[in-house]
Amino acid sequence: MPIIAPSLLSADFLNLQKDCTMLNESQADWFHLDVMDGQFVPNISFGFPIIETIRKATTKTCDVHLMILEPGNYAKAFQKAGADILTVHIEACPHLHRNLQQIKSLGMKAGVALNPHTPVHLLSDILQDIDMVCLMSVNPGFGGQQFIPHTLDKIRALKHMIIEKSLHTLIEIDGGVTLANAGEILQAGADVLVAGNSVFKSADPVTTIAALKKM
Ligand code: DX5
Ligand code: ZN
Repeated sequence: MPIIAPSLLSADFLNLQKDCTMLNESQADWFHLDVMDGQFVPNISFGFPIIETIRKATTKTCDVHLMILEPGNYAKAFQKAGADILTVHIEACPHLHRNLQQIKSLGMKAGVALNPHTPVHLLSDILQDIDMVCLMSVNPGFGGQQFIPHTLDKIRALKHMIIEKSLHTLIEIDGGVTLANAGEILQAGADVLVAGNSVFKSADPVTTIAALKKM
């Protein structure tokens, strides 16, 4: 069964408690929390106070996706705020191995995200140190965009690398995931589905999450 990680970016920020309660009672496995700095991506989202608040409101895994420059300067603060998984972008990390060591030494799982243009083979000498690879299936920065179909080839190639090395690295797909394309994404080899708009803008988010989980 896939891991379902609704993205809070599409939640109702005036009623976060309501959306947290809804997710807590749903079949969602993780809360996906998108942090943007207005530098690495052309948008600014939220930071520590929101993550701390959500941490208190849920026992589910907090999957924090950093779309920021210099993530190493903030890893400890995100751990304190309550992150269980901390994902950094390969494009923002000239010393990725050091970033991953830091994240793990703080007791968190370490994720690496790749933008749509970044080839998966760049991970060949670091894959063994990564708990989860997040393949961006849209250009990061905004919810509600269209899934980029070439991501399916990237999933298959990455899955092949993971199996070849006998690893257990999770593959997370982030951006434009819907009930219509989740099946082929999972068939290609994904383990974790992030879903923002398709969950929160649906008529019945709890049912949508259950349907994604059943895929
Ligand atoms: C985009 C974020 C995503 C976003 C996904 O930069 O990383 O997590 O919330 O939203 P949807 O599912 O609406 O594409
Ligand atoms: Zn994300």
